[in-house]
Amino acid sequence: MNDILFRHNRPDRAATFEEYRAEGGFQALQKALADLSPDAVQQTVIDSGLRGRGGAGFPTGKKWSFVPRNLPGPRYLICNCDEMEPGTYKDRVLLERNPYLLVEGMALACYALGVERAFIFIRRGYELAALNLKGAIAQTHKAGFLGSAICGSGFNLELDVHQSAGRYICGEETALMNALEGIRANPRSKPPFPAVKGLWGQPTVVNNVETLSNIPAIVAHGPAWFKALAATPEGAGTKLFCVSGHVQSPLCLELPIGTTLGEIIDTHCNGMRTGSTFKACIPGGASTPYFTKDHWTVPLDFDPVAKAGSRLGTGGIVVFDQSTCMVAATLNLVRFFARESCGWCTPCREGLPFVQHTLERIESGRGDLADIDILREHVHKLNYAFCALAPGAMGPVEGLLRLFEDEVREHITGGKCPVKG
Ligand SMILES: Cc1cc2nc3c(=O)[nH]c(=O)nc-3n(C[C@H](O)[C@H](O)[C@H](O)COP(=O)(O)O)c2cc1C
Ligand code: SF4
Repeated sequence: MNDILFRHNRPDRAATFEEYRAEGGFQALQKALADLSPDAVQQTVIDSGLRGRGGAGFPTGKKWSFVPRNLPGPRYLICNCDEMEPGTYKDRVLLERNPYLLVEGMALACYALGVERAFIFIRRGYELAALNLKGAIAQTHKAGFLGSAICGSGFNLELDVHQSAGRYICGEETALMNALEGIRANPRSKPPFPAVKGLWGQPTVVNNVETLSNIPAIVAHGPAWFKALAATPEGAGTKLFCVSGHVQSPLCLELPIGTTLGEIIDTHCNGMRTGSTFKACIPGGASTPYFTKDHWTVPLDFDPVAKAGSRLGTGGIVVFDQSTCMVAATLNLVRFFARESCGWCTPCREGLPFVQHTLERIESGRGDLADIDILREHVHKLNYAFCALAPGAMGPVEGLLRLFEDEVREHITGGKCPVKG
């Protein structure tokens, strides 16, 4: 398989500017500035079929095409490296191994979008990644691939790194913009969408680290090459899967998008830990409904995963073995989301703690059979919250009720956890 994102990786440290350059780094940017118009770069990304890797899988080129070209004032690009979703650590790995790929990807995106100032919003605590990134920006500046009149063209670009003050909601793109502006980080209403009215009221594109890091290879090799990397006919490119939990070898790997769950666990993670058998997993970060052994052969690409009842999300896979109580696992996730609710809207602020307390009762053997319907009702009602945090929080609850209702019932009828005793 052709690695794109991990191509320049060293086993124990980040690639240097010289190494990245010697391995073809910044050639895509040089090619674009010399031979391609901004519209041609955007069209290349549209044709590549690249879909956003931040969770929702929105087509990247299409998102760029929503930015109006005729509004006065600046446009902005923001790279989202908030990455606070439990079970997801791919953006950290990318930046710890090779920050130059993101810098070049952002430069190409900014050229396509007509952006001259862009930001990287990075999770507080990702200190090594932030340090690498700041160093990479300085080196790239020195080499003339950032700053004024880049490579002798008329294109100018400055990149700024902003370290988050730290809340999960800051990863939501409009809350992120509030945080960057220094005001309370609650989501904004949409429409207007950021592409039209974003940071400081100006057109703004928000893209994930992994999304932007794919751009140099797409521009260098073309859309057909990128599409052919996928394991599914409808897919495009590779995907970073970060696996944790009860597998033999938890790790972050780059594989063709559409690789099956079974192959990831059996071949790449060396199977389950000794004594463990697979019970379930979260396939795409904490806000995605569970997969079970029935989903072993589902290609992990956006549409097949959605068809199978979950979401590819971030590709953060958390694996559970037979010793896991699924009520307790779900409670653990809901507790996180309830704590991270920004409190802006009532369904989420009040609903998530209520769901948490209901699960706590069931888990400790004090539940009532009526709680099952109450939970189901909340899965439905929390879809009407102000932003996607609350519906996402209910992803594992929906999966619990659909796939493990018997286990929930046994907690209630037996008055104790049937798994832990
Ligand atoms: C509560 C919440 C947290 C989010 N956290 C992140 C995050 O940490 N990183 C990210 O890229 N996207 C996150 N998103 C999605 C962003 O709002 C946005 O869709 C994404 O950054 C777009 O990038 P993409 O098009 O490249 O996927 C989050 C969304 C929600 C609702
Ligand atoms: S759904 Fe939750 S996180 Fe989103 S605005 Fe409402 S309170 Fe805030």
